[in-house]
Amino acid sequence: MHATYARVQAERRPHLITLLGAPGIGKSRLVRDFIVREQDKVKSASSYERLVAPQVLQGRCPPYGEGVTYRPLVEILYSLLHVRDDESSEMVEDRFIEFVYETLDKAQSTEDPLEVARAIVRSVGRRADQISTISGSQSFIEGRERQRTATATLSKNPPSAPLGKSSPSATLIGKNADQSGGHIAFMRAWRVFLEALAQQQPLIIVIDDLQWADEALLDLLEYLTDRITNVPILFICPARPDFFERRRDWGGGRRNFTTLALEVLSQEESSELIDALLNSQDLPPVLRHTILTRAEGNPFFVEEIVRMLIDQKVLVQKNGSWHISTQNETLLTELASPMAPPEDTLIDLHYVFPLPRVPDTIQGVLAARVDLLEQTEKRVLQHASIIGRTFWLSALLELASNLSKATVVETLDSLIRHDFIVETEKQVRSPVGYDGVFVFKHVLIRDVV
Ligand SMILES: Nc1ncnc2c1ncn2[C@@H]1O[C@H](COP(=O)(O)OP(=O)(O)O)[C@@H](O)[C@H]1O
Ligand SMILES: [Mg+2]
Repeated sequence: MHATYARVQAERRPHLITLLGAPGIGKSRLVRDFIVREQDKVKSASSYERLVAPQVLQGRCPPYGEGVTYRPLVEILYSLLHVRDDESSEMVEDRFIEFVYETLDKAQSTEDPLEVARAIVRSVGRRADQISTISGSQSFIEGRERQRTATATLSKNPPSAPLGKSSPSATLIGKNADQSGGHIAFMRAWRVFLEALAQQQPLIIVIDDLQWADEALLDLLEYLTDRITNVPILFICPARPDFFERRRDWGGGRRNFTTLALEVLSQEESSELIDALLNSQDLPPVLRHTILTRAEGNPFFVEEIVRMLIDQKVLVQKNGSWHISTQNETLLTELASPMAPPEDTLIDLHYVFPLPRVPDTIQGVLAARVDLLEQTEKRVLQHASIIGRTFWLSALLELASNLSKATVVETLDSLIRHDFIVETEKQVRSPVGYDGVFVFKHVLIRDVV
């Protein structure tokens, strides 16, 4: 990835990396670490190396049926503009148009900024059933507002106005996209805009969960990677392995498309991860073996089994590191030495069986962890999962109306301590009062809840 990015900068041409791997294998983490390292490189570079820090733009495709086609692009625009919660659609739109003017101006582009801005505004985030019927620069914010808070969603967008995938007028999105002049204008507008933006500094654009991307978005990404010229832009698209079943010819035969498949961790690596998580190396071999066999090299699976054992109090904390509890220790010493456990699965069970049961899927482990929560914690988590992978305190309070604010806040703290959720995006918090923004630590946790 570093080599590719170096080439993108040297040759000033776009490149798209598809990062394939099962959930929990470490795609998001790899992207995060890659970006941090690139940023560090710039910080530690001497002044005549003249490295320019990349502008990093990130968006995520929502699960099928949950969002609008260009949702990740809306997220990218919002982060570019540093949109705050209290800004109206009109304000954001005006600011965007202004931003396009400035950007094209700096790049000395001969394109008409208003046309470019309008083409982007017109289609991004618009419900598919509106694109073909409404012209002019109407709000592209609807998609986001719908997602933002359950309260707003419920009151402003009644369920009778669903996202227009199946609507008869939805022809601009999806298969027929190429036939539409509007769509081509839109793709072209994005190209002009990104080319101008990348003149100022290299761009790293991350579109996560590509397996859920709409065909129209995939078309756009292929188009951009193919057609953008003379600027450094690296697209990184993490996706689950089944992505290629949907789009077999993705990037096919193109020189500036690369696919990287993430491998599982080796036994040694998984073992190191366990030691690092527990801050101790004296985990009984039987237990270590159980974790390694179950997790099959998936780091998220390893983490969650370890957390489950902690939640179940099989592992207890002693002087800053985690050890097996005495009562379980006795159980373990009764077992034969497992130093070289046989491969045979039947015998293998012998090593696994006497232990606290470890479910054999990651969903099972997550469900077991959720089951160990208290009633209120479970409730709050369930409400949160309805709102989305990202959720807001205000929306949560609305849904959990039988709980006091203090209880909800306290419960959220406890859920953070248990590694189910993290608090995030403090900078986009509403200036009016406190509205915390939280995300489920992993999309699978939300799915299971
Ligand atoms: N190489 C690694 N070493 C240690 N932990 C890792 C590694 N890769 C991933 N993890 C951890 O595994 C979990 C899942 O990783 P994540 O990047 O969210 O997976 P994905 O995006 O593929 O679903 C995270 O908690 C992450 O920190
Ligand atoms: Mg991920």
